[in-house]
Amino acid sequence: MTAYPKTSALMQRGTDFLGSEFAVLCGAMSWVSERNLVSAISNAGGFGVIACGAMTPDLLDTEIAETKKLTSRPFGVNLITMHPALFDLIDVCARHGVTHVVLAGGIPPKGSVEAIRAFGAKVIVFAPTLALAKKLLRQDRGAGGDALVIEGMEAGGHIGPVSTSVLAQEFLPVLAEDHLVFVAGGIGRGEAIAGYLEMGAVGVQLGTRFACATESIAHENFKKAFFRASARDAATSVQVDPRLPVIPVRALKNKGTEEFTAKQIEVAKLLDSGTIEMTEAQLQIEQYWAGALRRAVIDGDIENGSIMAGQSVGMLKEEEPVADIMQQLMSQSEAALSRR
Ligand SMILES: Cc1cc2nc3c(=O)[nH]c(=O)nc-3n(C[C@H](O)[C@H](O)[C@H](O)COP(=O)(O)O)c2cc1C
Repeated sequence: MTAYPKTSALMQRGTDFLGSEFAVLCGAMSWVSERNLVSAISNAGGFGVIACGAMTPDLLDTEIAETKKLTSRPFGVNLITMHPALFDLIDVCARHGVTHVVLAGGIPPKGSVEAIRAFGAKVIVFAPTLALAKKLLRQDRGAGGDALVIEGMEAGGHIGPVSTSVLAQEFLPVLAEDHLVFVAGGIGRGEAIAGYLEMGAVGVQLGTRFACATESIAHENFKKAFFRASARDAATSVQVDPRLPVIPVRALKNKGTEEFTAKQIEVAKLLDSGTIEMTEAQLQIEQYWAGALRRAVIDGDIENGSIMAGQSVGMLKEEEPVADIMQQLMSQSEAALSRR
């Protein structure tokens, strides 16, 4: 018997799919979502996801092995579609019998979904538009994703242009009956979870709310910056040059935000002079973010590093254990549904 009968009933398809107690994913966060946070999330009944980000296959190999030592519950691995060693990373997941792979950062390259499904894992995809979502979920020739995450622009990290509430209204009525859809972006409390579940979502994904949990290895400076910030401090990066499309990133405003503007000008100049091609230019931008995030999360340089955070950051006031956060979210959702 669950302590949250109404919420659990609405999450049933999500928990069956994930194999977890609650259909609450902790979205992969580069440098943050490693063995400690991932295992804590899964041990608390949620679903942790390792952020592979810029990891090499060897590093991912170790991270999966170490996570398994800390939890016997299911967890997933997030792979970035543009990673140059994507297929080697998929092989690592196969060797470890990873049960769920999240493909983030763009349209999955040809053969990647098939390669993941071939070793029996489930594939979770992202889609910024309804048309693309339908395409990515189509199950012809085993090339479709098994579940979808829709993520609104309230989220921390790389974001799309549309808010979570609009995406939910656009996607869920069309997809929810036949597909498994998880909602992400800007979720800080259980009342919001209840709302999306009622609209047909089978679960939710949160990042910001878990980033500074007790078990998170993020530097204490990074955590303090989160607890000080209000929603409006989590701002989006600006694109400087129309010829150099950069995916907007939501992070707390600091000197690093300005340095990113300078970095774009530098890369645009290289593009102009023909020194580099567009793909190289975009790769340089992405590598810049990975380095800047590491500086803030690991080194605690919150002046120059990137403090990626979603707008729900304003609701965070102190470090709390993952299990407490999970219980709060579930009981807030349950109370909201009971009031209906
Ligand atoms: C610090 C930070 C780093 C992130 N890094 C990644 C990443 O490496 N890959 C990814 O797919 N999403 C990344 N995200 C997005 C999260 O996985 C998640 O979808 C998002 O945080 C959900 O929105 P919320 O922050 O409003 O809860 C990151 C988010 C944050 C806050």
